[in-house]
Amino acid sequence: MEVLQTPAARAAVGLIATVIAAVLIILYLGDEAYDWVKAIHVVAVIAWMAGMLYLPRLFVYHADAAAGSELSETLKVMESRLLRIIINPAMGITWALGLWMAWHASWYTSGWFIAKFVLVIAMSAAHGHFSAAVRHFASDSNQKSARYWRMMNEVPTVLMIAIVILVVVKPF
Ligand code: HEM
Repeated sequence: MEVLQTPAARAAVGLIATVIAAVLIILYLGDEAYDWVKAIHVVAVIAWMAGMLYLPRLFVYHADAAAGSELSETLKVMESRLLRIIINPAMGITWALGLWMAWHASWYTSGWFIAKFVLVIAMSAAHGHFSAAVRHFASDSNQKSARYWRMMNEVPTVLMIAIVILVVVKPF
């Protein structure tokens, strides 16, 4: 189908299909759906994090590549596809299913969840910052150094470690 030929269209279809699958699982399994939703949530988290750890690595190389060079043009395509096909849909699925679990099991009254939520907002802000950087690199207007992006690479790593400890150990 012609409409499915762009990466963004395929990503949108993938996102919608996953949400429909999650809704069907919830309707069909009732209370037993929780563990299935959690499994899909973790899969989406893995995809989101893979992208969030890889994208700033590409920015490190891109910041040092001359504008208009073959390397710079190749990195533009890699960054844009990674963001639109993997990172954005994975973030949408992670949020949708995470919020459903928080509502279903009333986790929003627990301390660990509130702390996790704050860190997930920070992760989403990093996501927004990286999305803006993809646009800046695409128009050859990035002003940040390779050193800056090397440091930014650590932000999702540190947030991810803290989030996983909070949700698995539930220390408070
Ligand atoms: C985007 C917003 C998010 C919300 C609202 C959310 C919410 C939740 C909730 C309510 C659970 C179920 C906890 C349980 O049943 O014990 C859960 C599970 C989990 N979440 Fe998230 N989450 C989000 C993002 C993330 C992120 C960014 C990560 C990792 C970096 C993550 C990692 C996990 C893991 C590993 C589990 C499984 C924990 C277990 O079964 O012991 N989540 N999430």
